[in-house]
Formats: sequence, structure tokens, C-alpha cells
Amino acid sequence: MSDTKNISGNGKHKDSPSGDGGIDRRLIKVSAPATVANLVCGFDILGMALNDPQDVMEVRLLDEPVIRIKHADDYDLPVEPEKNVAGAALIALQEACQKKIGFDVVINKCIKPGSGLGSSAASSAGAVVAANHLLGNIFSKEDLVRFAMNGEKVASGVKHADNLAPCIFGGIILIRAILPLDIIPLSAPPLFVTVVHPQIEVKTSDARQILRKEVQLKSAIMQWGNIAGLVTGFLKNDYDLIGRSLEDVIIEPVRSILIPGFDEVKMNSKEAGALGGGISGSGPSIFMLSKEEQTARKVEAIMKNVFQKIGVEFKTYVTSINQTGVKIVDEK
Ligand code: HSE
Repeated sequence: MSDTKNISGNGKHKDSPSGDGGIDRRLIKVSAPATVANLVCGFDILGMALNDPQDVMEVRLLDEPVIRIKHADDYDLPVEPEKNVAGAALIALQEACQKKIGFDVVINKCIKPGSGLGSSAASSAGAVVAANHLLGNIFSKEDLVRFAMNGEKVASGVKHADNLAPCIFGGIILIRAILPLDIIPLSAPPLFVTVVHPQIEVKTSDARQILRKEVQLKSAIMQWGNIAGLVTGFLKNDYDLIGRSLEDVIIEPVRSILIPGFDEVKMNSKEAGALGGGISGSGPSIFMLSKEEQTARKVEAIMKNVFQKIGVEFKTYVTSINQTGVKIVDEK
């Protein structure tokens, strides 16, 4: 457990508010939302931010080129900047900044690592948004996603942005390309999201390793149809089309084997009126979308029932789409 007091003792205002040499010494606290990557058919290219759960982080700017990371939780994550996802993201920002600056960071994770709810993305995104705020917002949100992708590389071995972009921008995001980065926020009708997080850990790197490297043309055609249908459904507020398009013929059949109760949760939730859903990110969390809150609550009961029956510990959330992304919650 870290002692947050170590970095919270300084004054309320910028030490040297004027001139290039001055740095903003305020301690800022940010919240960083959980995210559902892939949105079933859009592997690595679609994602959505959730109102619950959210991580909390505190960041202070330093005038020496160091990055000090502490954890205020019990997850025992690495603190060396190069091995820590927030650290790797801040190193990229530091390099782009070309100034002698550093950061004190305290991370309090409420999004469990290995949950499939964008835990690593929340740490990287929270860190770079906080740092940028202290630097006077010199970088764009796209820049921040680019820096934070270095954190995803540490976490999963691959730079993907389908958790990061929604975490930073909020809402539902299409990442049309990552080289160069092309981020497209999508409008969508109101949706309720039910999530069950079975308390087993699935490492994203392992869940990527098991995927087949080649795809049958007929599967690709079905997947293209579903991605296009899902995006159109969001933009046209067409709930039926959203529901019909929430199908994944490529990734889900392979990964769902790692998740006990997956087929039962999906089938029973749809029978209860959910639009559809699937694996959240690389799992093991499962998410379902509903038009009405009442349906989302029924889906939660179904999820609880399935996991109680199987005898696997779990956590559930009934939440909605987070529209703000990483948010500054306190400055002192
Ligand atoms: N698109 C990534 C994957 C998300 O499914 O591997 C990881 O959270």
C-alpha cells in the first residue's frame, strides 16, 4: 500500500506560473473509466467507455526527469516505469515534451487487472490525461492515445487503441486505423450495459496468442457485415440492427472456451430481451447491451444465477456509456 501523503503535501497553486521554466505543482486527481473493447465483432477497432467501474489516480508534475509510481491498491503491479503501463505511457509523453519534467503518480485501481474491462488502458490513459492537464493541455487527445499505446504494448505486447480511445474520448469509438491513428467517435442511442466479471484472470497476451492467424473469406464477409451493421445501428439509433450485428464468428468461438458459463449467459440474456453482447475485450468479463434499464437488471440476475450455479466468484455491474472519458476530479 502506498502513502499518498508523500505527494500531496505541496501548495495549492503553480510554483512558478510564468515563464517556460515554471511548472505546475498542483496534485491532480483523475478518474479513468473501464472500457469494453471489440464490441463483439470489431476486434481491435471498436470500444466503449463505461460509467462503472473507474480507476482513480493522482499525478504531480516534477522538474526533474524521473517517473515515480506508487500503488494505493493490493494488485502488486510493477512500479518500474518501463514495466508499468502508466509509466510507459508517461515516458512517451515525456520524450515528446522535450522538457526536463517528471511525474509522481499514485494509482488506485478499481478495475481489476486481467478483467477484460480495460484495466491497463485506464492506468495509461489516466496518467497521460493528468500529465497533459498539468502541462497546459499542449497535446491533443489523439497524441495522448498514441502515448498511451506504449502502455498497451507493455500489457499485451501489441499497440491497440480500442480500450484507450474510448477511455480518453468517452463514448463509443471506432479506431479505423492505428498507423496513422484515425479515431472516429460514434453517436449512439441510450444503452444500458450489464457486465459480469468472473473472478478468474485472463491475460490479454494469452488471449491473443490463442487466436488463429488466418481467417476464412466467408467468415470475414460475415464479420464485415456485422461491423458495418453495428456502426450503422449506432448512428441510426436502430436497436434491432445493433442487436442483429452483435455477432462475432472469428474471435468469440476461440476465446469463449476460456470463460465458464459464457454460452448460457449469452443465450439466457437474449431470451430475457437483451439486444446482444459477448466477451468484453479479451475476457473473462461478459457484457450485454439492453435498451431498457429493467432488462439490464434482469440480465444481471441471469448472470448471477449462472455463476452461482457454476460456483465461480463474480462481480456484476449495471451501468451506462460514459460520455466524458478520463475526468479531472480534484486539483489542489
Ligand atoms: N482488442 C483487444 C483484444 C482488447 O481483444 O485483444 C484487449 O482488451
